[in-house]
Amino acid sequence: MLDLKAIREEFPILAREVHNRPLVYLDSGATAQKPLCVIDEIDRLHSELNANIHRGVHFLSEQTTDLYEQARERVRAFIGAASRTEIVFTAGATASINLVAQAWSEKFLHEGDNIVVSEMEHHSNIVPWQLAAQRRGAQLRVLPFDDRGEVCYERLGELLDERTKLVAITQASNTLGTMPDLRRVIDMAHAVGAIVMVDGCQGVVHGGVDVQALDCDFYAFSGHKLYGPTGIGVLYGKEQLLDAIPPYMSGGDMVDRVSFERTTFAPLPLKFEAGTANFIGAIGLARAIEWLQALDSAAVAAHERDLLDYATASLRSIDGLRIYGEADAKCAICSFNIEGAHHYDVGMILDKLGIAIRTGQHCAEPVMKHFGVTGMCRASFALYNTREEIDRMVEGIRRAARMLR
Ligand code: ALA
Repeated sequence: MLDLKAIREEFPILAREVHNRPLVYLDSGATAQKPLCVIDEIDRLHSELNANIHRGVHFLSEQTTDLYEQARERVRAFIGAASRTEIVFTAGATASINLVAQAWSEKFLHEGDNIVVSEMEHHSNIVPWQLAAQRRGAQLRVLPFDDRGEVCYERLGELLDERTKLVAITQASNTLGTMPDLRRVIDMAHAVGAIVMVDGCQGVVHGGVDVQALDCDFYAFSGHKLYGPTGIGVLYGKEQLLDAIPPYMSGGDMVDRVSFERTTFAPLPLKFEAGTANFIGAIGLARAIEWLQALDSAAVAAHERDLLDYATASLRSIDGLRIYGEADAKCAICSFNIEGAHHYDVGMILDKLGIAIRTGQHCAEPVMKHFGVTGMCRASFALYNTREEIDRMVEGIRRAARMLR
């Protein structure tokens, strides 16, 4: 069992009021709140250690560089990568995916090739591939899901062929909560010689990942959804792939020798870390991971499962409420609409009651199109949420339904 009271006390923001009501924060899928140890670490870094990394022989620079590289090691161990050279710090998952979509496509995607993306992707795992396909004269193919939010795996066999170069798929949908059977997708993609890019933004938070066991080729996630700071993200890539693709951004720290005639590049992973890295973000992220790892992961998983089951059952008891996403394997995300009420109005009424959910298209317009809606309400849970908060949300939704119908 998690000591929820003690955990909640570690998150100062959870004690605040919004519109004179205790805050109920159910938007952790957009960004998670930060424990005090992360807030303090960032504060300490600015107050005691701030100095640029990889660039100085002085004490502060060496100390900060050490912490930055230790952060890389912590991320490596956390996601089960084979080597620190496979961990690139970026500005976030979007930056990670764009890096691959730009640099890998430039070398490996050719006219007549195709890329498969799933229909449930966040825009950040669609648009970079769409643009890459347009630039390179390749085709974008869509792997659909059914009305329960399950990936139509049988369709994947029809979409993959010898010209498929990459499959882009999420570990956990940010709208439907679906956690696709990645093993199956990766095996099928590899069988035709395609590589797989996994968007781990939501998935890494809800259960973590072992990239070697999964055998994905690229994996991206953001720090701010994982109880860490904003502006920091990770790209994992298999070493031989990262080695083979050209640099993306260029500038300081990613070079070996520079002359006006010719420039050579730094070894991995620095080849992909041009400019001053967000070292405070990376060290803050490592602190968040350390905090998470100190918790009992089985208890965290059981608690999140309980929140999802409790919320699903409670929402189903509301007349005229439809839940979107009922896949067997699902993370703690519930999207829904109430018949006769606009999602935006529901969100506004809940806000006035101190309850934060997300409304709109959730950066996943194709999912909205699938269900023929302009948007959805979404409650996304983190390990600090409680059943009592779900009760308050449900009470708020009932009130909103009475007001809006
Ligand atoms: N991708 C984030 C979400 O799903 C912002 O809300």
